[in-house]
Amino acid sequence: MLPQKIKKRLEEQIAGVEHPRELVVDVMFALQEHYGYLSDKAVAEAAGLLGMTPVEIDELATFYTFVYRRPVGKYVIRVCDSVVCWLNGGQSVRDYLGGKLGIGDGQTTADGLFTLLPVCCIGYCDRAPAMLINKKVYGYLTPEKIDKILQKLKADALPKTE
Ligand code: FES
Repeated sequence: MLPQKIKKRLEEQIAGVEHPRELVVDVMFALQEHYGYLSDKAVAEAAGLLGMTPVEIDELATFYTFVYRRPVGKYVIRVCDSVVCWLNGGQSVRDYLGGKLGIGDGQTTADGLFTLLPVCCIGYCDRAPAMLINKKVYGYLTPEKIDKILQKLKADALPKTE
């Protein structure tokens, strides 16, 4: 169940619009942010909030690339596989990341930290090859740069000691 605070905020937003379904993406993202992905239970909750059917929510959820219907890692790495990145070594970046993490496209590392996915052009062509990790874009990727990025993300994911 969604915490009351999040539920109340969404209900207020929904009450403020004429057609609740116009907020379907916001609601899906809010639930995904809370649960980590849009489970069947979350789909049902979204449907209840918006006055839609779970099937309608599911159809939209599977349409949006950034809505996850299956569990993903803490960090979702999307390596651009469009033409400019491909011409600038995008495939090597994917291979390097896959080798380094020991996973292929669509897979998540055993520690639950990283999921690897392809993505179409993310508008960073002038800094190709590029990738997106959650909401942050990284360009001019090299193995050294990737190592540093992964190292930092792993360190950030460690529990903080006081
Ligand atoms: S082609 Fe990769 S960011 Fe545009």
